Amino acid sequence: MVAMTRILTPDPESIAASAEIIRSGGLVAFPTETVYGLGANAMDAQAVARIFAAKGRPASDPLIVHISRLEQVERLARNFSPAARTLAEAFWPGPLTLILPRQPEVPSLVTSGLDSVAVRIPDHPVALSLIEAAETPIAAPSANRFGHTSPTTAAHVYHDLAGKVDIILDGGSTKIGVESTVLDISTSPVRILRPGGVTREMIEALIGPVSMLAQSRKTSKGLPSPGLLKKHYAPRTEMILFKGPDARKNLFEYLKAELALGKRPGVMAEDEEVRALEECGALVFPLGAGIDLAGIASHIYAGMRWLDDQKVDVILCTDFGDQGLGVAIRDRLTRAATRVVG
Ligand code: TXA
Ligand code: MG
Repeated sequence: MVAMTRILTPDPESIAASAEIIRSGGLVAFPTETVYGLGANAMDAQAVARIFAAKGRPASDPLIVHISRLEQVERLARNFSPAARTLAEAFWPGPLTLILPRQPEVPSLVTSGLDSVAVRIPDHPVALSLIEAAETPIAAPSANRFGHTSPTTAAHVYHDLAGKVDIILDGGSTKIGVESTVLDISTSPVRILRPGGVTREMIEALIGPVSMLAQSRKTSKGLPSPGLLKKHYAPRTEMILFKGPDARKNLFEYLKAELALGKRPGVMAEDEEVRALEECGALVFPLGAGIDLAGIASHIYAGMRWLDDQKVDVILCTDFGDQGLGVAIRDRLTRAATRVVG
C-alpha cells in the first residue's frame, strides 16, 4: 500500500521522478503501445513482489521484462538465437514478446521459477524514456487487478490500482489495445503462446511456419505460458460471444428476447451495426469500422469496462474472424465471454 497515487503528465520532470521511484523499489504504471503496464525494477525481487501484491496476481504467472535497446537483452537472456535476432530487428520496438533462456541474475519471481524469461521493447516514447531514465529493465504486467480487463487509459489503471501504485504516467489512450504477441522460439516450429499485435502472418513472412497454442484452456496445469488461463481479461458482467455464419442473426435474436424480458442488454459492435442495434433498444458501445481490425482491437477493453459501468444485465458481441488481428481479438473475447454461441 502506498500513501497516495499520483497521476502525472509524462514530462521530463515526472519521468525523472518515476525513474527514481523505480530505482528505489516502487511501482510506476506507464503507457505502452498495447496496454498500460505496472512497472518495477526487474532485477529487484522485492520490488517485483510488490507488483504481485498490488495486482492480486498469483506468483505462478510470470512477468514480461521491458527494455529500451536491443543490447540490454544480454543482461536477461543467456542466448539470443539468429531467429530471435531476426524477429527483434523486424518488430522491436513493438508488440512482440520473445521467450528466451533466462540469465541467472533475473530474479526467479519474475519468471515464476521458469528457466525462460519474457522480453520486449515497447513502442511508446513514455515507456522508452522511463526505462532509459531508470537505467534498469522494467518488469511489467498489464496494470489491472488480476483477472480484470487490461487498462487502455490512465483512468482504467486508477480505477483498479488507486492506492497501490506510486505514480501513473498518463499517456492518453493506448494505440493497439490488446496485449503483445507472446512467442516461444525454443520449439520447432516456433509457437505463439498468446496472439497479439504482431500477427502470425507477419511472423511467418519472416521465418516460415508458426504454430499456435490451442486456446481456451480451463486450467493452467501444464501450460507452457502459465498466465493463459481460459477465464481472463474479463468484465464483471456476463458476456456472450456470437461466432460463425449466423453470428449477427443470433445476436439480434438474443437481444430482442432479452429486451422482451425487460432486461438491459449492452452490445459491443462495429460502427456499421450501431444504428440497427440502437433502433432495437440496445445500449451500444461502438468499436470502430468493421474493416479496421486495429481500431476494433483498441476498443474492446474500453467497451467491456464502459458497459460494466452502465450496469447492463449482459454484454453481447460478435466475432471478427480469424485473419490477422482477428485472431487476437477472438482470443480476448473468448476469454472474456461466459458463453460462446456458434
Ligand atoms: O502488451 C503486453 O504484453 C503488456 C504490456 C504492459 O507490455 N503486458 C502484459 O503482461 O500483457 P501480462 O503479465 O498481463 O501478460 C504476460 C504474459 C502472460 O500470459 C504470461 O504467462 C506470459 O506472458 N509469460 C511471461 N513470462 C513467460 C515465460 N517465461 N514463458 C511463457 N510465458 C510467459
Ligand atoms: Mg494481464
